[in-house]
Amino acid sequence: MPVKATAISPANIAFIKYWGRKEGTEDKDVIPSNGSISMNIDNCYTVTTTEFSSRYKEDEIWIQFFGQNPQRVTGSQFERVIAHVNRFRQLNNCDLKIKVVSENSFPSDAGIAASASGFSALTMALAGAFKMKLKLKELSILTRLAGSGSACRSVIDGFVEWRVGYNSETSYAIQIAPPEFWDLADLVVVVKDEKKEFSSLHGHSVAHTSPFYKRRLELLKKRIPLVRKAINKKDLFLLGELIEEDAVELHLVAMSSKPPIFYWNEGTMEVIHFLRQIRKNGLLGYFTIDAGPNVHIICLQKDLEKIDKEVKRLKNVLFTIKNSPCVGTRLISKHLF
Ligand code: DP6
Repeated sequence: MPVKATAISPANIAFIKYWGRKEGTEDKDVIPSNGSISMNIDNCYTVTTTEFSSRYKEDEIWIQFFGQNPQRVTGSQFERVIAHVNRFRQLNNCDLKIKVVSENSFPSDAGIAASASGFSALTMALAGAFKMKLKLKELSILTRLAGSGSACRSVIDGFVEWRVGYNSETSYAIQIAPPEFWDLADLVVVVKDEKKEFSSLHGHSVAHTSPFYKRRLELLKKRIPLVRKAINKKDLFLLGELIEEDAVELHLVAMSSKPPIFYWNEGTMEVIHFLRQIRKNGLLGYFTIDAGPNVHIICLQKDLEKIDKEVKRLKNVLFTIKNSPCVGTRLISKHLF
């Protein structure tokens, strides 16, 4: 019999971004066209409780963002979660209905995809419900298959690399360094609080239509080992240059895809200019930007307060979230219901 199980999992910020699916692979297998590297971030996490029971007459999914009332999940989001639940039902020969409740530590308007933390927490809670003894590699693969590929990186502690692999069994995340290895910080700078216009899912599907897509894949052959090296040597100067290059390239590909996708806004540019300015004064902060306008500033913990205070003075900044590197997905004993 399955048991009630609860998992906690962080979001992650990519230093090298996953953008586009590997040619010739099926979308459902979620195999990326390039390897990616990220850091788990401690203040942006999801807690998920799952319970299979004959008491439930239908599948029920609830989600609660920080400071908001719980909302019942319906439509395509519901279908996506249930497809993943069905994978576990099949693996464990179970036909009981499920109740899933998920809580996010960050506001829904933070522009941080709740899918990485959400799908990794869901996968671990489902595995926990069936008391499945999974190796980290297996958990990372199962999480990847949930649909949000970047979620497979949240499973592993600290600084993480998702290796492309050559098929579904070989595409998973591994550790580069534990969280305490380097006292980096990620300051999320929110400059827009509306829902993003284009999902990453859409971005992945049109990435190959950009004339710069293949070029980016070429450039990544050198950049990925250099980012690994920057982490291993704790070299923020090198890391900063590489992550900015990588973020700009992702957006270059997005902006030149057919049809084009524009994520940046005035606030994005304001933060980029701000960082260039503070670097001239010796304060090291570097930007990276996911599929939206908000900026993640990567800096050392010792400079975090100062950068936070200064960035908040900018015209377009709504709020910030301070993060440290952290461990990956875990089962916990405190259930949400
Ligand atoms: C730009 O397909 O993993 O964040 O989590 O829904 O955004 P979401 O989907 P996913 O794409 C992630 C795209 C990215 C880069 C990255 O995190 O590697």
